[in-house]
Amino acid sequence: MSGTEGLPARPAGVPLAALPQQTLRAPTLAPPAPQPAGYPPGGEVLFTAARIAAAVGRMAEQIDADYHGQELTAVVILHGGVVFAGDLIPRLHRVDLRLETIAARSYAGTSSQGAPQVHTHGPLEVAGRAVLLVDDILDSGRTLGTVRDELAARGAASIAIAVLLDKPSRRVVDVRAQYRGLVVPDVFVVGYGLDFEGRWRNLPDIVALAGTEAGEAQA
Ligand code: XMP
Repeated sequence: MSGTEGLPARPAGVPLAALPQQTLRAPTLAPPAPQPAGYPPGGEVLFTAARIAAAVGRMAEQIDADYHGQELTAVVILHGGVVFAGDLIPRLHRVDLRLETIAARSYAGTSSQGAPQVHTHGPLEVAGRAVLLVDDILDSGRTLGTVRDELAARGAASIAIAVLLDKPSRRVVDVRAQYRGLVVPDVFVVGYGLDFEGRWRNLPDIVALAGTEAGEAQA
């Protein structure tokens, strides 16, 4: 297709700038890409599925090397840590791994409700064991801090933390993750296991919800 399609023919020798303005067609601006179905309206993809996969791969390599040939009990925090753990754990080939879960809940909407409630299902056998605590995001640190203390009280021999996302700007409890995938700014994110009121855990990308930037997010 010619680049001048739709324009009136220009007389030979007349420069473009000499033509009356109305004879030049304004460039057509591409409309904004529509949000894929199933994504939050106005949300912005912060990390694509490919970027997440690369981060999970890097973390798995490091954990696999650090615990090579050793016993390790992965304790996954429900529900947010499930999708990340589902990708991470099968990549730990060189570790003698057991899997446990623990449930913690502290958020209503985008607001933290303070100290999380922790629920166990069954005995949660961690006494004397090296534990890898797996969660989606380290935000204020309340959840991982509470769960870490609970596992220590149950006699875990060592506790390391693996989180896909770290939001250091919001930390109120001193918790450090030995393994972290990606650092997020102060926005509320959903996707890849993270939810807003139960929605969008299924998205393959990590998406910032519109209107939750620092200053707009509820504490
Ligand atoms: P804290 O503040 O206790 O947060 O470190 C840990 C838990 O809170 C949830 N959380 C989020 N969920 N988008 C979410 O969908 C976020 O930006 C976010 N920040 C915290 C999450 O369940 C995490 O395990």
